[in-house]
Amino acid sequence: MILTLKGKKMIADIVVGLSYGDEGKGKVTHHLLKSGEYTHCLRFNGGCNAGHTIYHNGEKFVTHHIPAGVFFGIKSIIGAGCVVNLKQFYSEIEMLEDAGITTAGLVYIAENAHVITDSHMEEDNKDSVIGTTKRGNGPAYRDKYSRKGVRAVDVPELIESSYLIDLYRELHEPFLTKAPHATVLCEGAQGFGLDIDWGDYPYVTSSHCTVAGALLNGIPAHAVRRVYGVTKAYDTYVGAKKFHGKGRAFDLLQQIGDEFGATTGRPRQCNWLNIRDLKRAIDINGVTDLIINKVDILRQVGKWNLRSYRDDSISMQLGTEVGWKQYISRYLEDEADLNIIFSESPERI
Ligand code: IMP
Ligand code: MG
Repeated sequence: MILTLKGKKMIADIVVGLSYGDEGKGKVTHHLLKSGEYTHCLRFNGGCNAGHTIYHNGEKFVTHHIPAGVFFGIKSIIGAGCVVNLKQFYSEIEMLEDAGITTAGLVYIAENAHVITDSHMEEDNKDSVIGTTKRGNGPAYRDKYSRKGVRAVDVPELIESSYLIDLYRELHEPFLTKAPHATVLCEGAQGFGLDIDWGDYPYVTSSHCTVAGALLNGIPAHAVRRVYGVTKAYDTYVGAKKFHGKGRAFDLLQQIGDEFGATTGRPRQCNWLNIRDLKRAIDINGVTDLIINKVDILRQVGKWNLRSYRDDSISMQLGTEVGWKQYISRYLEDEADLNIIFSESPERI
């Protein structure tokens, strides 16, 4: 007998960062998961360099590895494009369980994800050129690509655990599950400006932060439905290159916006939103829905500026909030059917 999968087409929505990480992707993912329509939440790139800040039932959580689906009882998978520090993974499981969030039967690691070892951490700890998060990310990906890495499926303690998952079976053989088909929310880490191929090389991370990175996790192109691109009303960046603008307004952005890294606590350098870079990120990701977070912070700083060229010294002063929003909307008006959402709350879209 041949089992057919007719009519069981997978659906995938993808959340991507359009800037340098820290855009508020966690908030958007958390919001989308409330719809109840997703069967899976999949982290598709990065390791514990990422920090995802989520407010769930009024409580603040910072996770590094575990996708936000777990807050809603949705299967949450650390995908094939990720690298995992197992100590960090277990401590997150403990943190969630202690907070009353069930993880059993919900949290998984793809068999073909790679593992961050202690020696990766030690090596990354010595970095001073890129300004990495020192979480072993770069060395783990380097070993993956030089075919010397350790995959999750090769780790004895994981083989004995219930955490491993075969992404193909899970997502493409839905007759094994009760759902008519898998409806997957893919959650990216970092952002376009840190992408290994499209970011400001070498000041980048070592993984694929665009929608392409999501597809690498066994998501077929035809499954993609919406692409939620997330940015902030101003740009922030943590790392070795000089990025912070000159003047008090940028220090205010940092303070009022509480721009300190969720993973390392480092102050994030701040500058006006670069509209030209934003458009590139929207085009290359095929963004359908653009979420611009933290408009309330810009309002408190009281300046409605944008950058438009690589040269940081050139900024545009739009004068008012209305003028600023209109300029952005007009600049992006040739983006077919792009839905733009200006968001101004840490907890709501
Ligand atoms: P790595 O990913 O730790 O190798 O660091 C490479 C660059 O990406 C550095 O500039 C980091 O600060 C930055 N980076 C990595 N992960 C994040 C993140 O989640 N948010 C913001 N910056 C990040
Ligand atoms: Mg973050």
